[in-house]
Amino acid sequence: MVFIVEDDYQSMSRTAANEIASCIKDNPSCTLGLATGSTPIGLYDCLVQDFEAGEISFKEVTTFNLDEYCGIDGQNDQSYRYFMNTHLFDRVDIDKAQTHVPDGMAKDAQAACEHYEQAIIDNGGIDIQLLGLGHNGHIGFNEPCDHFPKATHEVALTESTIQANSRLFNSIEEVPVSAYTMGIGTIMAANKIVVVASGKDKADIVKRAFYGEVTPEVPASVLQFHHNVVVVVDKEAASEIL
Ligand code: F6R
Repeated sequence: MVFIVEDDYQSMSRTAANEIASCIKDNPSCTLGLATGSTPIGLYDCLVQDFEAGEISFKEVTTFNLDEYCGIDGQNDQSYRYFMNTHLFDRVDIDKAQTHVPDGMAKDAQAACEHYEQAIIDNGGIDIQLLGLGHNGHIGFNEPCDHFPKATHEVALTESTIQANSRLFNSIEEVPVSAYTMGIGTIMAANKIVVVASGKDKADIVKRAFYGEVTPEVPASVLQFHHNVVVVVDKEAASEIL
């Protein structure tokens, strides 16, 4: 595991964006695994800058997002599809047909999850997977539990995740209570993984995930077993380990 501590959010974003940009430069038709949430927003801005500077093109890039809320469609401004369009896809030259986000409105949850997992496999897997880190150690929406879920599945969100997400909704009642997420197995199958974390409120979980015991009670801790992980954090998020 490579662990990089940057001074602030801006330089964390740039360093992590460079990992993704070099993957695209090395292989213009690569497959990116992408994340939503507050942390990667600066990173997406950096990728858009690289695109505008003519350094990278997304024309041949394929993407698979980690997760999507159940029960809201891609037009809903709280959906992860909407987030990705706004922060990245609508700002670069990507072919939207090559961008994949689980369908939150799927009628048959199991079939939708199997289809998503198979689409990743048929595509040849993920070259580089971007992850944020939940306060409870979740990655994607793989919440603390007694095992590491293997493949894409529907998951009930924990109270703490619902609370954390409620800042983005008008009221807590509007926050979806379940989501589709890639499994830990799906994530671990990526060739390379880049994790970003920022801020003092992530310091405790950064320590537990990357310097603590590997346990499904801290899902991100499994990343210690991946052969090619780069963790990029700012000083505040690293404050418990420095
Ligand atoms: C988002 C996702 C989540 C977030 C995590 C951290 O697609 O899968 O695991 O990465 O909740 O979110 P932020 O960055 O908002 O702290």
